[in-house]
Amino acid sequence: MKILAISGSARRLSTNTALLRALEEIAPPDIALTTCADLGGLPVFSPDLEDLPLHDSVVRFKQCIEASDGILISSPEYARGIPGGLKNAMDWLVSGDLVVAKPIALVHASHRGDDMLASLRLVLSTISSRFNEELFLRFPFMKMEPEAIASAVRQPVNRAPAEAFLQEFARYCGRPQGDRA
Ligand SMILES: Cc1cc2nc3c(=O)[nH]c(=O)nc-3n(C[C@H](O)[C@H](O)[C@H](O)COP(=O)(O)O)c2cc1C
Repeated sequence: MKILAISGSARRLSTNTALLRALEEIAPPDIALTTCADLGGLPVFSPDLEDLPLHDSVVRFKQCIEASDGILISSPEYARGIPGGLKNAMDWLVSGDLVVAKPIALVHASHRGDDMLASLRLVLSTISSRFNEELFLRFPFMKMEPEAIASAVRQPVNRAPAEAFLQEFARYCGRPQGDRA
């Protein structure tokens, strides 16, 4: 099972990216999680730029999406909304059919950010029929260093719900479209 984990933060010491990388580390052997924290290379979306040839970074991004069985997203909140880089990346996916049937769930590294989460849920339920709102993993890791986050996720009290979440998401990815149980 190939899961693409997208971070909405371009910050070097991002807690959201660190959480996704910590999940990579504890993922069961049958779940290959790959973190993408490089949305800054995508040009600002315009339908004009969808004429071929596409920018190399867009081609690579779309290939990563296509090759995945499911997508996890973890993002900070900026000015009560979705960071521009993440919204831009999603705008690049709107006109094609790459994410229409792609299983998607959210992860979150902060006790704050609920306005961003509400906006992101609205966008994801617009672009994918398989965005699963019920599957959600959240830790209060705001302001923590990546190494401390990796260590916290290895602790049984956090590792158990994180592993359960990954297994549940992998099961959801393997289910036929329309089957949410
Ligand atoms: C420019 C800027 C704007 C922010 N705006 C908000 C906000 O509106 N609401 C909020 O809860 N946090 C806000 N934050 C805090 C970040 O969402 C928070 O620190 C987040 O955990 C950072 O994620 P990261 O470590 O992955 O970069 C803001 C941070 C920055 C730098």
